[in-house]
Amino acid sequence: MCGSRPRSALATGPASVSVRGGFAVGDVVMLLDGRGRRWLVTLSEDGEFHTHRGVLAHAAILGAPEGARLTSSLGSHYVALRPSLEDVVLHMPRGAQVIYPKDLGAITMLADVAPGSRVLETGVGSGALSIALLRLGARVSGIEVREDFAARARANVRSHAGAALAANWEARIGDAYEPIATPPEGPWDRVVLDIPEPWRVSVQAPQILREGGTLVAYTPSILQAMQVRDTMGRGWVDVRTLEVLHRTWHVEGRAVRPDHRMVAHTAFLTAGRWIGSGLDEDALPGTLLGGLDDRVEE
Ligand SMILES: C[S@@+](CC[C@H](N)C(=O)[O-])C[C@H]1O[C@@H](n2cnc3c(N)ncnc32)[C@H](O)[C@@H]1O
Repeated sequence: MCGSRPRSALATGPASVSVRGGFAVGDVVMLLDGRGRRWLVTLSEDGEFHTHRGVLAHAAILGAPEGARLTSSLGSHYVALRPSLEDVVLHMPRGAQVIYPKDLGAITMLADVAPGSRVLETGVGSGALSIALLRLGARVSGIEVREDFAARARANVRSHAGAALAANWEARIGDAYEPIATPPEGPWDRVVLDIPEPWRVSVQAPQILREGGTLVAYTPSILQAMQVRDTMGRGWVDVRTLEVLHRTWHVEGRAVRPDHRMVAHTAFLTAGRWIGSGLDEDALPGTLLGGLDDRVEE
């Protein structure tokens, strides 16, 4: 199975979904064992994958197609696959804590990210959200206060979004609580926040968010969410706060029940659309006013 077969790739697509053909040097492979455990391995000519269940030479994977079955020196079996975005987020090297897949899905939907969307993201952390945004075709401008985290995010974006999508990503070192300058091409379409005090950025909406644009803030605590909501009064519509609970099921023959453990609380997501501070509240239907005066619909 040694040697590389020719492979074809869509020039702009993320590596994991567009690459055809065998694994090559530099590719990231996801090794899945019989117990569902998974490892991400970057392939090299003479590399080896070691666990207490034996050694697997990278040479045995190079040239093999996705789905190849491999056996370690001690007889353990693995399947070789290109990693999904979920695999990447959960297993890539991290500096800061990443946003979990269940929330990445909801954030990208709430923010309505599409090809060409111009997104401001802060903080960048390990780059998990950046990779999710890039894979949807966004152009991402990041602000990250820590140089080491920005470097980690840059490496993760290059390895896991692919070179073509990485060209749509830039991050600068800076403090997002300081006034953020409007870019020459005008305010961003979307703003996504994962920083301890997001309300210090949401108040900057008039400068950073175009009218009709969306802001999403990820906050582990409801008190943080409340502080974000306090800044989303006049000029905001369609404001909401929610959380995503992810419960898997045990399905084996007729034995079907919810799993005992679930990925429950990780964070609250607060989203809203900025329509500008020149708003005439009386001209709006009541259902849109939730974010304007914080009233609660019974
Ligand atoms: C939880 S991490 C973000 C993780 C990221 N969303 C991901 O998915 O990988 C929070 C990040 O915010 C950064 N940060 C904290 N305060 C900041 C500030 N004032 N300006 C910019 N970045 C900040 C931290 O250094 C950290 O990297």
